[in-house]
Amino acid sequence: MPGELAGKVAIVTGGASGIGRATVELFVKESANVVIADVNADGGEEVAGALGDAVTSKRTDVSSADDVRALVDLAVERFGGLHVMVNNAGIGGSQRRFLNDDFRDFDRVMAVNLLGVMLGTQHAARHMSTHGGGSIINTTSIAGINPGAGYLTQLHTHDTRGVIHVESPKANDHFTLGQFFAEWAVFLNSRCVGAYCNGLKWYVNGKQQTGDPQNYVLQSHDEIAIVVGKPPKKIPSSYQFLAGE
Ligand SMILES: NC(=O)c1ccc[n+]([C@@H]2O[C@H](COP(=O)([O-])OP(=O)(O)OC[C@H]3O[C@@H](n4cnc5c(N)ncnc54)[C@H](O)[C@@H]3O)[C@@H](O)[C@H]2O)c1
Repeated sequence: MPGELAGKVAIVTGGASGIGRATVELFVKESANVVIADVNADGGEEVAGALGDAVTSKRTDVSSADDVRALVDLAVERFGGLHVMVNNAGIGGSQRRFLNDDFRDFDRVMAVNLLGVMLGTQHAARHMSTHGGGSIINTTSIAGINPGAGYLTQLHTHDTRGVIHVESPKANDHFTLGQFFAEWAVFLNSRCVGAYCNGLKWYVNGKQQTGDPQNYVLQSHDEIAIVVGKPPKKIPSSYQFLAGE
């Protein structure tokens, strides 16, 4: 529904291109104000220029704490607050096989893909925690999908960012939510997730489900929410919903 993000201020890192740019465009369509934070200053300016006054751009290296602090300050000064932080900026690594990797790009990948998400989360949360809350959305990474070269197990979970991500090397492989949780060694049944057993409810793409979540067969691009305690008014089923919570 257009206007779903009216009154919200968002930062999108890596907003000069790709997924970040598409996120900026979606948020503006939904009436948010957006700050693009990208090392590609020209690209950020170009996107902001095309979208009008609702968007501004600031050259930001997400791996720099000073840059990220100044970014949050800018959002607050320019648009009066910060309600949504999208930590999306990321770079690829070498993807060389482990035995042949010289790790020449390791530090930079970790600085951007992991530390960058942590800094973005920390500085946004420092503001949000004293201004009525907000949403923090982290884009997960892509890496190591090449079963022929022996990169991964059949069902694996990985992420340079510490954000949960599930992949399968074969299109027709199917895994259950229970298998996924077993991979992470987290207990799951229809009552409890880990040690939390307070009225568990679970949702797929925003719709509440019944039965044992362990047996749910994961489909590509499913968004799964497992809630203990009182669920939020709307269960996220997209970035847009997340940002609007
Ligand atoms: N495209 C895919 O298939 C895919 C799949 C899974 C995950 N991802 C992840 O999604 C995110 C966006 O991917 P994309 O395909 O849109 O890539 P992209 O290269 O089009 O966009 C990434 C943006 O991040 C910016 N950036 C890079 N380093 C930065 C830094 N240190 N500080 C600030 N900005 C920086 C780049 O300038 C660029 O504008 C990345 O984190 C990527 O790892 C992409």
